[in-house]
Amino acid sequence: MSKQPEPLEKLAETASIKADKKVFIKTYGCQMNVYDSTRMSDVLTPMGYGETSAPDDADLIILNTCHIREKAAEKVYSDLGRLRILKSKRAAKGENMVIGVAGCVAQAEGEEILRRAPIVDMVFGPGAYHKLPDLIKRSHNGGRGVVDTDFPIEDKFESLPVPEKKKTLARGKTAFLSVQEGCDKFCTFCVVPYTRGAEYSRPFRQVLDEAHALVDAGVQEITLLGQNVNAYHGEDGAGNDASLARLIHTLADIDGLSRIRYVTSHPRDMTDDLIDAHSEVDKLMPYLHLPVQAGSTRILQAMNRQHTAESYVRLVERIRAGRPDLAMSSDFIVGFPGETEADFQATLDIVKEIKYAQAYSFKYSPRSGTPAASHENPVPEEVMVERLKRLQTVLNEQQVAFNKSCIGKTLPVLLDRRGKREGQLVGRSPYLQSVYIQAPDEAFGEMVNVEIETGMANSLTGRRVLETT
Ligand code: SAH
Ligand code: SF4
Ligand code: F3S
Repeated sequence: MSKQPEPLEKLAETASIKADKKVFIKTYGCQMNVYDSTRMSDVLTPMGYGETSAPDDADLIILNTCHIREKAAEKVYSDLGRLRILKSKRAAKGENMVIGVAGCVAQAEGEEILRRAPIVDMVFGPGAYHKLPDLIKRSHNGGRGVVDTDFPIEDKFESLPVPEKKKTLARGKTAFLSVQEGCDKFCTFCVVPYTRGAEYSRPFRQVLDEAHALVDAGVQEITLLGQNVNAYHGEDGAGNDASLARLIHTLADIDGLSRIRYVTSHPRDMTDDLIDAHSEVDKLMPYLHLPVQAGSTRILQAMNRQHTAESYVRLVERIRAGRPDLAMSSDFIVGFPGETEADFQATLDIVKEIKYAQAYSFKYSPRSGTPAASHENPVPEEVMVERLKRLQTVLNEQQVAFNKSCIGKTLPVLLDRRGKREGQLVGRSPYLQSVYIQAPDEAFGEMVNVEIETGMANSLTGRRVLETT
């Protein structure tokens, strides 16, 4: 059993921090970090911290970092360089600014961050957010460079407060909900199993309680999150495992919740009940992010993906058989060590076969500590650049084609953002496209029907109508 953490109120009290402090949180990386940042903010509220979008103003700065590719990690150090100047300006005025580094770089590099950036006061990994009050207290007590990269993750979820209704209301109509964290797949290129630890699923009841709290505060669309979200198997209170499909069916019964999404899935964990959920649950949106990474089975094996190109294509066919309008999305890596031109052609082939509505593609970036980093046969940079360009040309064409295929259709859009133009509201279609319309501000936060008029690379425009088609 893990040690029982101290109650948050007690820690906030002993931290003796003045009320009306400001925290600036910068989030890098995936949606799990976005979720974690909101939860860190929830932990800080009882300590008197309000969020600010201006770092100059902040008493506490948290960089919630990503380690997935080298560039992502380097970005953190260049931001810390800028913060050094800010911190010394504040010190000149006799003011203190606490700087914390959280997330996956914190987990992977720990002490090394303090060595490279001595202005940092706290380094803490994704398993330690609930301990923030204590970490802040320790850094205020003159303790230099506190490091906490402890696991397990379950302590974090058990100790995080239920989000305050007031704060959730202010956050809008769509919300992320982490249900699973960590990864046991060990793809040979990936740092996630090292930075997020072993796969863990939150108990079913805990997830439902959080979903109800979100819906009570007006949330209409929930995206369930996990590094391998479809490996979810939460304990259901009766000692049994509940699958992601069962969770989706149960969430679909919540009145007031209109839309459910989930991300990111692994092809190996697309179970029959989850495939069926795509045809059975109307509230489950017809959009699936299912990373394939590459189209060559030889490369997939070297990546330890545990699926082949053929099994992936068959899987997508099965899901589409039940949900023919399913929009597919994926991640791709080009230039994995040993990738030949023929392997790369196989990636182009699978893209042409599946026809993606949207996708992310990256050059392979060696991450130290991962098996692929020591592979021989690196693909030269200029070859990677050229392959990435060719892949992105095809993916962009497909994205434009998908968006144009929506012209003339009427789609439900949840208007959750204000556009840059006067009177413009923006929301997501069921297929996760951004849709821009002109509408009175009363429509903000509403689900409206929009007849699509134009489709560009990254967005759609349309006009509000009364009926769906
Ligand atoms: N769990 C998800 C992916 C999480 S990481 C899955 O299994 O697909 C998000 C994406 O970053 C990956 O899908 C991969 O495309 C990319 N990525 C991860 N490590 C990388 C590396 N070393 N170099 C380039 N891209 C990488
Ligand atoms: Fe990384 Fe593979 Fe796990 Fe995805 S499944 S997080 S790519 S190790
Ligand atoms: Fe990055 Fe960590 Fe997410 S490495 S992609 S922030 S799990």
